[in-house]
Amino acid sequence: HFEHRCGDDIGQFALQRVLNRPCFFRVGNGGYDIFALHDLVNRHADGLGRHVVKGCKPAFAHLLISAGFIQIHDDVGVSGFKIRGRIVKGDVSVHANSDDTQIHGGFTDFHSFSPPCHFISKNHKQIPSAPVVPENDPSVLFNTAGMMPLIPYLMGQTHPYGTRLCDYQKCIRTNDLDVIGNTTHHTFFEMLGNWSLGDYFKEESIEWSFEFLTKHLNIPVERLAVTVFAGNDLIPFDEESFNKWKSLGIKEERIARTIEDNFWIAGETGPCGPDTEIFYFRSNEEIPEKFDPEDERWVEIWNNVFMGYHKDANGIVTELPKKNVDTGMGVERTVALLEGVKDNYESSIWKDVIDLISEIAGIPYEENKTSMRIIADHIRTAVFISADRAGIKPSNTDQGYILRRLIRRAIRHAKKLEIDINSNWEEKIAIAIMDKYKKYYSEIETNQNIALEV
Ligand code: ALA
Repeated sequence: HFEHRCGDDIGQFALQRVLNRPCFFRVGNGGYDIFALHDLVNRHADGLGRHVVKGCKPAFAHLLISAGFIQIHDDVGVSGFKIRGRIVKGDVSVHANSDDTQIHGGFTDFHSFSPPCHFISKNHKQIPSAPVVPENDPSVLFNTAGMMPLIPYLMGQTHPYGTRLCDYQKCIRTNDLDVIGNTTHHTFFEMLGNWSLGDYFKEESIEWSFEFLTKHLNIPVERLAVTVFAGNDLIPFDEESFNKWKSLGIKEERIARTIEDNFWIAGETGPCGPDTEIFYFRSNEEIPEKFDPEDERWVEIWNNVFMGYHKDANGIVTELPKKNVDTGMGVERTVALLEGVKDNYESSIWKDVIDLISEIAGIPYEENKTSMRIIADHIRTAVFISADRAGIKPSNTDQGYILRRLIRRAIRHAKKLEIDINSNWEEKIAIAIMDKYKKYYSEIETNQNIALEV
């Protein structure tokens, strides 16, 4: 028996822990108490011989799906943030209540359920995020991409969860600190990924990405464009991806071919391969017929890497024993896009934090965007670094140096906004950020005091 305490939104860890286990749930605020899952579905019947859970929170319905009790019926589906109609498997159906079907966008729903749920329905197992400081790789300071903790498995080792995985991975990229403050870059971000470890390849990967974007998030095909690998001396043009996109209804003018931008590797060496990147037209202007990846109105939202190669320290590229898929979708960007805001910091991920900074500073966001974005971004990253299992403290070297630099930059920008830096301004902001994330990342709660001390 496993009892997980849940609020309106049930944490992603619950999903993973319920898989393949009989379990009890306490679903808070939704009118449910503790009961066995199968009791729940058996207790309600709709007179047609089906078992019905009525007025169910989308979160709860997602949980039922994840636990394998129900499957999404082909013609209804779970839209990005809401459940439309019925979800049926055999004789069980679930109706979301009307309030919940109004939910549109929102970090919580997106974060907890939608993308993992999509891949879980394709037989993927959700795995927890690895810490931000890599545990077995001293050559890098932080995990910079979802695939990094999985490198041994991409290289051929057997993963205990199988050959199809999905997750949210905490990532930190601090190499381009100077661009932080714009609308789309963050030093910390969560990357949604799904992996095939020698299992499916291009065909399914592209198809499921397309299905998720167009059917679940309801993004119109006209707003999408893609790039594919153009080919070089070693690896040929990715005709398979090109043809797959065409077969799904992406017009040829919307499929650009590039070389450098369509070959992905984390750093200099390691597993790598051609990729196909998916772009969304973010502007209200007329969508150009022909896709130009340099046109900033097209925003990259998802990257599918076909990791069939390995590059060694001498730059030699060889084929891997198994062909893998590694995909990466930045949560911040996708949520902003779904919520129709052009500035990530105006999405539900950041809005309350920005409002708090504006309140502390006593000045509006509109006229002080860059500094407020930098403060929000850097404090969030500092929280995640200092709450990480590795116990990093500000210092002169390695991760500690980055942490110190982030904190100093945040203070510099606080001074610019004339915030009284001797007040507890940073603590208030850190607490607001922690409150948001602690239900998804237990270390934020456990190490709250350590992070606040830093
Ligand atoms: N590993 C790929 C990326 O980070 C998916 O873009």
